[in-house]
Amino acid sequence: MTIAILSALPEEQAGWVEMLQDVRGTRHAGRQFWQGRWQGTGHGHDVVCALSGIGKVAAATTAAALIERFGVTRIVFTGVAGGVGAGVQVGDVVVASEYLQHDLDASPLFPRWELPGYGRTRLACDPVMSAALHAASQACVGSAARAHQGLVVSGDQFVGTAQASQSLRAGLEAAGHAVLAVEMEGAAVAQTCHDYGVPFAAMRTISDRADDSASVDFAAFVQTVASRYAQHILTGFLER
Ligand code: ADE
Repeated sequence: MTIAILSALPEEQAGWVEMLQDVRGTRHAGRQFWQGRWQGTGHGHDVVCALSGIGKVAAATTAAALIERFGVTRIVFTGVAGGVGAGVQVGDVVVASEYLQHDLDASPLFPRWELPGYGRTRLACDPVMSAALHAASQACVGSAARAHQGLVVSGDQFVGTAQASQSLRAGLEAAGHAVLAVEMEGAAVAQTCHDYGVPFAAMRTISDRADDSASVDFAAFVQTVASRYAQHILTGFLER
């Protein structure tokens, strides 16, 4: 089993490459990939770390390269997201149980948000990996924050106004999609992993509320708490 640890930005993955032994770096498809061995207290794992860059296409390309070229058999995404659901606050952790592309609209040919050719709107994350991530998240945040699990949505947009966030949430909720958080990559990785039959899970630390101060909050948060959480939660996840 080879596990990929994938993030969009270097800040989101800070520290992971340094935690690997026997690290080898490879440049492929315009990106840097790091292969190594992670040695936990009980057992170890072969790990590949990669940075996708921002957005759905970049994320899908990176996920396909991880599977095709580096032979990964599991992908875990770690990064930050904007909180959209009620009670999802900055500093909380959201583990995705399902993903939806909020900017996908092939109507009237297909219902709004439906993935053409898939006959569905949401793609599920791997339940076993997601349960382990959620348990590790709960153990990590303790009483300082909340660890949520539910629907995360992705699109090629930074949601940075209260109005945009409210309309995103209201539109999805009216169609029965109770969204917790928004980001820009996860649904694309979920789709690639679905196509290849590779189990996928994702955890996102909430960096902002996708409102009028989102860009300022994002910039401040991504430097600090996100990477600290990501390291602890993923260590807990790999130990399980
Ligand atoms: N990632 C973190 N915050 C975000 C936001 N507000 N919109 C989209 N992606 C994000």
